[in-house]
Formats: sequence, C-alpha cells, structure tokens
Amino acid sequence: MTSKPARLRKAVLPVAGLGTRVLPGTKTTPKELLNVVDRPILSYIVEEAREAGIEHIVFVTGRSKGAIEDYFDHQIELEAQLEAKGKTAILEMMNAELAKAGEMSFTRQMQPKGLGHAVWCARDIIGHEPFAVMLPDVIVDGQPGALKQLVDAYEETGGNLIGVESVDIADAHKYGIVDPASREGNRITMKGMVEKPAPGTAPSNLSIAGRYILQPEIFDLLATQERGAGGEIQLTDAMDRLMHEQSFTAVEYAGVTHDCGDKIGLLRANVALALKRPDLGEAARKAISALL
Ligand code: UTP
Repeated sequence: MTSKPARLRKAVLPVAGLGTRVLPGTKTTPKELLNVVDRPILSYIVEEAREAGIEHIVFVTGRSKGAIEDYFDHQIELEAQLEAKGKTAILEMMNAELAKAGEMSFTRQMQPKGLGHAVWCARDIIGHEPFAVMLPDVIVDGQPGALKQLVDAYEETGGNLIGVESVDIADAHKYGIVDPASREGNRITMKGMVEKPAPGTAPSNLSIAGRYILQPEIFDLLATQERGAGGEIQLTDAMDRLMHEQSFTAVEYAGVTHDCGDKIGLLRANVALALKRPDLGEAARKAISALL
C-alpha cells in the first residue's frame, strides 16, 4: 500500500434473523438481546465496535426487533428509580452504553433473505465508503477486540478483510471457509471462499468468523446476488465475486469466539465470561464445580 486507505467509520450490524436455533427464547426477545452473564450479547458487540473507532452503527432490523432500538435509549422511569435507590454504579454503566446523538441508524430488512441481503439493506446509509460488518450474535473475547485487530491490519493492507478462526476440519461444512493462497503471520492472502462446503471438500479449516471490513463495491454485487447455501442470499458468495476485482486478506485474530446463536455456544459464553469476571469469577467457579 502506498497511500493510506480510507478511514473506517461505519459498521453494519444485521439483527433481522429469526434466531430459530435458540427458540423459544427468541419468540419475543431478539436473539441479540439475550443475556450473557448480565448484559445483552449486543452490548458486547457495540463495545467492540466503539473500541475499534466506529462512529456510526447501522442496525438492519426486522419485525419484533424494536427492543433493540429501545435498549440504546434512556429508560427514564427506571433511571429515576435507580437514582432514588442510590444504585449509581449500574446507572453509570447503563448511561455509558446509550447511543450518542446521531451514532445509530436503523433500517429494515422486511424478510430475512440472508446475511448478504441484510447487508445490502444498509447501502444508502453506508454510501461510498469502507465499512465493517459485525455478526451481532458472535462475541469475540479478545484483547484488543477482534474488530480493532482487523482495523490495525486494514490500515496497512487496505482492501477487504475477513476475520477468521481455526476450526476442527471435521466441522468445516458448518461455516464459511477461506481458500488461502499464502500466509504471513496471522494474515492470509486469499484466493477464494466457500459457504458451507460439502463435507470433505473444505479448502482449509479457517472459518469466516463474523467480522469483516468491506469496500462499498460489494453493494453492486449484492444487488444481483442469487440465493446460495440454505436458499439465502449469502454475503460469502458476493465477497467471492468481489475477490476477482479487489484484494481480500483474512486475519486470524487472537481471541476466543463464542457463537451465541447456538444453544451450547450461548451457554459456553455465559460460563466463560462469568469465570473471567473479577466480581463473579470465584462464585461462578464454585457454582459450576458443584454441578460437575
Ligand atoms: P444467523 O443465521 O446466525 O442468524 O445469522 P439467524 O438466521 O437469526 O439464526 P438461526 O439460524 O435461525 O438460528 C447471523 C446474523 O445475521 C442476521 C441475524 O440476525 C444474525 O445476527 N441475519 C441473518 C439478518 O439480519 N438477516 C437475515 O436474513 C439473516
């Protein structure tokens, strides 16, 4: 890279999916608002976005997802009661999470036609600039956060970046998988990618983990993207086409990934993050040990 790449300011968080794997919990509560320890999954994701320097978050929502917009706004009555009871620590924590003026936009995906279609719904709000996509049901416990690690790489490479993690090759058919050309440290130059490869055909064990930095040209490809795996309009398929025109770098980030859209993943995230908490870790360890 000779010139500095355009600064990354915006992130798309698609929250319009049905969350069928964790029903009935998601019947009336959006999956992204299910708690991990004592705050919603989405709270961890927004924290990661802000840490990475994101200034504007675009939520792609759907029906029954109104609670997401409310979560980042004041709850005047609750706040007054916490104030009256002197519960200032939790009040301060809640205030710190509120959306800053103009920081969040909400657009709708009328039908959950797939991740690629959800991202495309944000095209007018993003405009012609690079943007991040963060899967809001995937918590990455990393220091710094996974998106910040991608941003650091992006400032050197420019182009498109995809966060990846190593998975058991036997499980590769469950994920989007990267086809690597060469590797330097944790950065992998890519020559292709495939969504949910048939068992035994995966080109690597590097799974696309839910953090992306993309160039706006992806929107033109998404506009014409046909349905792929699972009958859904897949972001992976559009990225695979964009790769013919632009560079893609996979970054194997440092951190532990928790897929909270899955029963066991959600359980694991609760256990892992409770054990790490200075205020809860010891009590959590005792409670869990007693069960084993
Ligand atoms: P998932 O496939 O994990 O979410 O998509 P899902 O469809 O809600 O879950 P299941 O499979 O039915 O349990 C990853 C993210 O993309 C969003 C989801 O909300 C989720 O956060 N998504 C997915 C959309 O916004 N729109 C879609 O059409 C599909």
